[in-house]
Amino acid sequence: MNLTHYAIHVELQRASVPDFTAYPFSLAAVRNLERIELHPKVTFLVGENGSGKSTLLEAIAIRLGFNPEGGSKNFHFETRGSHSPLHQHLRIARGLRKPRDGYFLRAESFFNLATEIERLDGGPGGPPILGSYGSVSLHEQSHGEAFMALMLNRFGGQGLYLLDEPEAALSPQRQLAAMVRIHDLVELGSQFIIATHSPILMGYPNAYIYLCGPNGLERTRYEDTEHYQITRQFLNNPKRMLSVLLAPDGD
Ligand SMILES: Nc1ncnc2c1ncn2[C@@H]1O[C@H](COP(=O)(O)OP(=O)(O)OP(=O)(O)O)[C@@H](O)[C@H]1O
Ligand SMILES: [Mg+2]
Repeated sequence: MNLTHYAIHVELQRASVPDFTAYPFSLAAVRNLERIELHPKVTFLVGENGSGKSTLLEAIAIRLGFNPEGGSKNFHFETRGSHSPLHQHLRIARGLRKPRDGYFLRAESFFNLATEIERLDGGPGGPPILGSYGSVSLHEQSHGEAFMALMLNRFGGQGLYLLDEPEAALSPQRQLAAMVRIHDLVELGSQFIIATHSPILMGYPNAYIYLCGPNGLERTRYEDTEHYQITRQFLNNPKRMLSVLLAPDGD
């Protein structure tokens, strides 16, 4: 029995899937899915736009008891109401330890989350929760400032954190700061599952990287990801790549 994980693996109950030709089961990442072994520290989901990372992460989050729109397990708001039925067909093997903390962060619903925090604080009963977010309304901080406030003040360790493109808000400098914070939280007994396009974040060493591609999910080395290779190639010689990309038609 694994003592270090909160979530050990995610399995698709294939026999219960009604139709592999319809969304979300038709996505290659789902159609070919058997089991995702999770790293006790950090698991990255990477891959092209539309490859199914958010669909998978959302289904895992719902299965773990999070609100589909994000937040901690205490959040129950809904502004969108369209999540896929994938979670109904996932089985998640859990470790012996239970997480003390947890958060699901969707890139596109951070605004709704900030609104919900203000609403909860304005309501009767319960201590104000804004303190957990750096005591400044998330609406009065920039996207990146608000995200860092969340990571620094609200995430407390011994937690299971699911993040969808956390880099969306962050400068390269802050991505490094976020990686340091992730590492600190890992040292405090946390586990992360992160969908990302960031060649910086996915360089975190104590991690599995899964590429969502046409063959389903494949574990891959950092240096073999397109994110790493393309970014490196570009930065090594921007002029050369630009001259190819921007060559006039017919050249
Ligand atoms: N409700 C839906 N019905 C049908 N197709 C959908 C629905 N929601 C998403 N899709 C499709 O499923 C695919 C996977 O979407 P998903 O958001 O999981 O991709 P992603 O890997 O997170 O992409 P990105 O990197 O752009 O965030 C996309 O092609 C998308 O158009
Ligand atoms: Mg996505």
